[in-house]
Amino acid sequence: MPSKIIKRSSKIHGQGVFATAPIKAGEDVVQYKGRLRTHAQVDDEYGGQDTGHTFLFILNETYVIDGNIGGNVARWINHGCAPNCKAFVIGHESGDPAKDKVVIEALRDIAEGEELTYDYDIQIEAPITAEERRLWACRCGAPNCSGTMLKPARKSGARNKAR
Ligand SMILES: C[S@@+](CC[C@H](N)C(=O)[O-])C[C@H]1O[C@@H](n2cnc3c(N)ncnc32)[C@H](O)[C@@H]1O
Ligand SMILES: [Zn+2]
Repeated sequence: MPSKIIKRSSKIHGQGVFATAPIKAGEDVVQYKGRLRTHAQVDDEYGGQDTGHTFLFILNETYVIDGNIGGNVARWINHGCAPNCKAFVIGHESGDPAKDKVVIEALRDIAEGEELTYDYDIQIEAPITAEERRLWACRCGAPNCSGTMLKPARKSGARNKAR
């Protein structure tokens, strides 16, 4: 996966990731890296800190990728309600959940200079409170922006972890 991306200041939030060259629809852009930790480990460390900020990606039912430790540029990609990328969990052929990985792929052609986004699909148990909506407000700027990065809990799918 040759790097066609760079981290820099974003209008959506803090730092974001931008294309430094055209990226084709369907191209693998970057792997989401970080320390492999269990849900219990990240809940112990970050649980209760509802800050509206996360560098955690749910890999599968056993593991979370903690981008705070050994994370790469992928952890700076912002959420978007009309995303140009999608995060996929690639299950390892051995069935070992520790060997699964997350790859961010382009959903459409992306021009040089465009900010990359994907749907974090952060799921929390309903009801979503007003305070949670405030903390997790979305500022992606898309015409269809839902105003929040949160969604009512479902079961499957690649997603970031709120806390
Ligand atoms: C993985 S970090 C992305 C990098 C982040 N921009 C930064 O500078 O730390 C995820 C956090 O960025 C912020 N963020 C990402 N997308 C956002 C959006 N569409 N609207 C508002 N904040 C966003 C939220 O605080 C979110 O928890
Ligand atoms: Zn939005």
